[in-house]
Amino acid sequence: MIEVNQIQALRQQVLAWRRAGDRIGFVPTMGNLHAGHLSLVDQAKKVSDKVVVSIFVNPLQFGPEEDFDRYPRTQEADCRKLVEAGVDMVFLPSVSEMYPSGQVQTLVKAPDMLTTVLEGAQRPGHFDGVTTVVSKLFNIVQPDVAVFGQKDFQQWRVIQQMAADLSMPIEIIRAPIERDRDGLALSSRNQYLTAEQRQVAPKLFVTLQDVKAAVLSGNTAYSQLESAAVQQLLESGFDRVDYVKIVSQQQLSPAGPEDAKLVILAVARLGATRLLDNIALTLTGENT
Ligand code: PAF
Repeated sequence: MIEVNQIQALRQQVLAWRRAGDRIGFVPTMGNLHAGHLSLVDQAKKVSDKVVVSIFVNPLQFGPEEDFDRYPRTQEADCRKLVEAGVDMVFLPSVSEMYPSGQVQTLVKAPDMLTTVLEGAQRPGHFDGVTTVVSKLFNIVQPDVAVFGQKDFQQWRVIQQMAADLSMPIEIIRAPIERDRDGLALSSRNQYLTAEQRQVAPKLFVTLQDVKAAVLSGNTAYSQLESAAVQQLLESGFDRVDYVKIVSQQQLSPAGPEDAKLVILAVARLGATRLLDNIALTLTGENT
């Protein structure tokens, strides 16, 4: 696996691959890699000849009260995993390589429609940081295809919209959520759970499945289903529920009986650990 820190070196290598006719797949990450990230790499490998992964903890997407400094940086272990996964190149830029003037002068503004709700409502400015860094990474790598995890459904949808709005010639793939055997969605944050909290955690997915079953059985009283799910999570042992929402996949706005493509999203807390999960479903077809 080729390791590069500089944009110029990355560009030269990608150009050589491109000249040889290779299709370039890209998986952007912030490192601290687990099986969920590696499943994104697998998806990228299926649809491209060369896979580039970036590891960059992007200061621009962290709020002042958030954990940018404490965010786990595990570069050596990450690189070993990427070698094993058969990645062709890893891009490990410094903050000054990505933001040479110290402060970013030009921001890519994420669409309000998709970012004033759900995670965006809790983390003002977060998605502008994501769209700005992902645009930069897309300009640097110039991939044919980029893979994002469904776990961060809203992020995937924002990036998809950004790529469409800015006519970026990049296919944006949504990769399914990777889960532990008991259903808990894989996340770097799972490592912070105590043994007792770890027992409770899978009930997030159980609750989402219950909501899904109700929706599939024809129940369209979505706000009642959301409130019942919040109650179910609290009774299951969660300390706090940030939200359970049934929204349209396209708009991320509250779903109505006319919407066929839905996503049920939930965020619940165990102590200080915030767990996110979701289930996407199409009322007429296949569900994930
Ligand atoms: O999902 C993440 O890890 C980050 O938000 C991303 C897409 C790598 C941008 O920094």
